[in-house]
Amino acid sequence: MGTLTVHERSVIVVEGGRIAFVGRESDLPPALAIDDDFDARGGTAVPGFIDSHTHIPFAGFRESEFNRRLQGETYEQIAASGGGIASTVHNTRKASQEQLTENVLARAAMMARYGTTTAEAKSGYGLDKECELKQLRAIRAAGERSPVRLVPTCLAAHEFPPESRGSEAARQGYLSTILGEILPAVAEEKLAVFCDAFVERGVFTLAQGEAVLRAGIELGFVPRLHADELSDTHGARMAAEVGAASADHLMHISDDGIAALAASGTVANLLPATSFFLMSDRYAPARKLIEQGAIVSLSTDCNPGTSMTESMQVVMQLATLQMKMTVEESLTAATLNGAHSLRLAEETGSIEVGKRADLVIVDAPGYLHLVYHFGVNLVAAVFRDGRRVA
Ligand code: NIG
Ligand code: FE
Repeated sequence: MGTLTVHERSVIVVEGGRIAFVGRESDLPPALAIDDDFDARGGTAVPGFIDSHTHIPFAGFRESEFNRRLQGETYEQIAASGGGIASTVHNTRKASQEQLTENVLARAAMMARYGTTTAEAKSGYGLDKECELKQLRAIRAAGERSPVRLVPTCLAAHEFPPESRGSEAARQGYLSTILGEILPAVAEEKLAVFCDAFVERGVFTLAQGEAVLRAGIELGFVPRLHADELSDTHGARMAAEVGAASADHLMHISDDGIAALAASGTVANLLPATSFFLMSDRYAPARKLIEQGAIVSLSTDCNPGTSMTESMQVVMQLATLQMKMTVEESLTAATLNGAHSLRLAEETGSIEVGKRADLVIVDAPGYLHLVYHFGVNLVAAVFRDGRRVA
């Protein structure tokens, strides 16, 4: 993670959307005829950012709740008063599939302007079969026109829907609906690659989350997990045990959880913009995870409640300045390691011959500026599959 290969005064040749050559112009193989040239002189090319954890198919904003948090109310208090995820569920259920598609496209356009070329996108604001499918169909429809490559995840286990919160029996009923109806319908329509669950005090228990992930695996999904975000529920260890692609958030991960991730192939996906936006002093223990050998990636968690940003540059800045990751580690985590957790590392996430030409041209003389020159958009141009998208 900590060591980058830097090519100075070099050219990148793209052929058929893939990288055909990286190096000095004088070393170009004569067979590579150049018919179109983009002059990035003075700039720096880095891999397109991979945002491997987002909740972008939502309707409505929560800026008033944000303002209440600024006055001292907590995220949990707002959720208990009917706000939080439930308010976004209300608006997302009312929205048409076409509206959700437009919302995803608007967020994808913003992401592209800030250098993201691949993004995971989760459902989880439907919380019934019809609306979970509507969100996933919106991701699919948006993916056909989006500047950003979209990778869908079914997060039907994001919360219990308002109508199933009254009793333990009602909660069990929704869990059965996820296992017996929602996941099979998503698999049938091939609407998601991954499945996910939010294991948290007051939300899904560890056993319920595990049941969702194991049912998902049976149906052909690769699991991911919202783990140890607001409290330590041993989510990271469970994610490692079921062979999840990633365990995400981890602000409250225990030493035991860190050891479990380090001994596994499960990526520790850290979302520091969420700590920042919740005004928490608590960030995931990135240094400990890296030092013990866990694979660390970074994502925005873009959602209307706990992280209203599409900017992977902000995430890298927080990772470095708040979680003490090096710039090199942050850049690897924001690109190749995220691609790995999305099972796309053979295709994207680094500038290597044979990979897709997903590139960001940064208006700066070196990659350190991505953190050093903070709070501005340093992106000058973005290419996905060799095509300019921003
Ligand atoms: O990743 N952890 C749960 N889900 C989101 C928050 C969603 C919301 O508040 O709308 C998260 O932080
Ligand atoms: Fe999340």
